[in-house]
Amino acid sequence: MHLLITGSRGQLGRALHTHFSPFHQVSLWSRPQHDIADPACADAVAALAPDVVINAAAWTHVDGAESAPDAAFAANALGPKYLAEGCARSGAALVQISSNEVFAGEPGRFYWEYDELGPRTVYARSKAAGERAARQVLDRLYIVRVAWLYAPGGSNFPSKIVAAADKHGSLRVVADEYGNPTYAPDVAAALERLIQTKRYGIYHLVNEGCASRYGWAVELLHLSGRSSVPLTPIPAHEWPRPAMPPAHAVLVNQAAAALGIRLRPWQEALAEYVKNENAKREV
Ligand SMILES: NC(=O)c1ccc[n+]([C@@H]2O[C@H](COP(=O)([O-])OP(=O)(O)OC[C@H]3O[C@@H](n4cnc5c(N)ncnc54)[C@H](OP(=O)(O)O)[C@@H]3O)[C@@H](O)[C@H]2O)c1
Repeated sequence: MHLLITGSRGQLGRALHTHFSPFHQVSLWSRPQHDIADPACADAVAALAPDVVINAAAWTHVDGAESAPDAAFAANALGPKYLAEGCARSGAALVQISSNEVFAGEPGRFYWEYDELGPRTVYARSKAAGERAARQVLDRLYIVRVAWLYAPGGSNFPSKIVAAADKHGSLRVVADEYGNPTYAPDVAAALERLIQTKRYGIYHLVNEGCASRYGWAVELLHLSGRSSVPLTPIPAHEWPRPAMPPAHAVLVNQAAAALGIRLRPWQEALAEYVKNENAKREV
């Protein structure tokens, strides 16, 4: 299989590269050579004619999107449209990576693949627009929503919590925002299985279970030998952000699970992440 990975230097892009390159032909696109917000990338995809494009490129600066909506929509809505156009012309399939934040995330609610979208922030609206734009152009399309992504070597919630714990010795962490902590290498492995099914549609690929930010931090500090660091749970309104995230945009994997594709519980994936990060530090 010839796979094109966009956003190949991001967290998911790197995990996809690592996972697929031993057994498949992989083309890697990243900025500035390949900007998915450039309409010409439709021609470039058509000329390359891969079997599958996985779009892991996105404007992911959620707070920054509030003051730069044009740039966020260019990458997150027009980008998937151009990639889908290139796929339509060359016969390729597209995996459009989307986000749990396309849902309103009402407290206590869980979200299945076919639930109504209710994006609340600029970032979330741009990701929802990307789903729609790709669907308008292409049938051979997987829309794959992920949540709370982290990967080895990335700048993400676990890496920031560990750095802050070591720097400050104590932490305040939001306890009323819930999601699915999801390990990018697990998403990469699940995507390989999903692509092989050729069952296009909407999927939620998240590690099993959910957590609050606080619960995630408690588990991380425990696994990394930092249980003694004092953690104070706080409500989200004590940690104001330009783009307030949904309180409970917790995804349920029903569609991929029906095909036998499930990711392991988030605590197991987090333990592997911690082990890998510790091993890197010892080298
Ligand atoms: N991170 C999360 O918690 C999370 C949660 C839910 C969904 N997601 C979704 O998961 C996907 C992967 O996220 P991630 O965490 O791997 O993101 P990431 O680490 O921020 O990587 C995104 C990559 O996209 C590239 N990019 C941005 N705009 C581009 C453009 N116009 N053309 C080409 N490349 C562009 C960036 O390039 P530069 O390095 O040049 O900036 C970066 O390498 C995204 O679709 C994101 O919306 C992420």
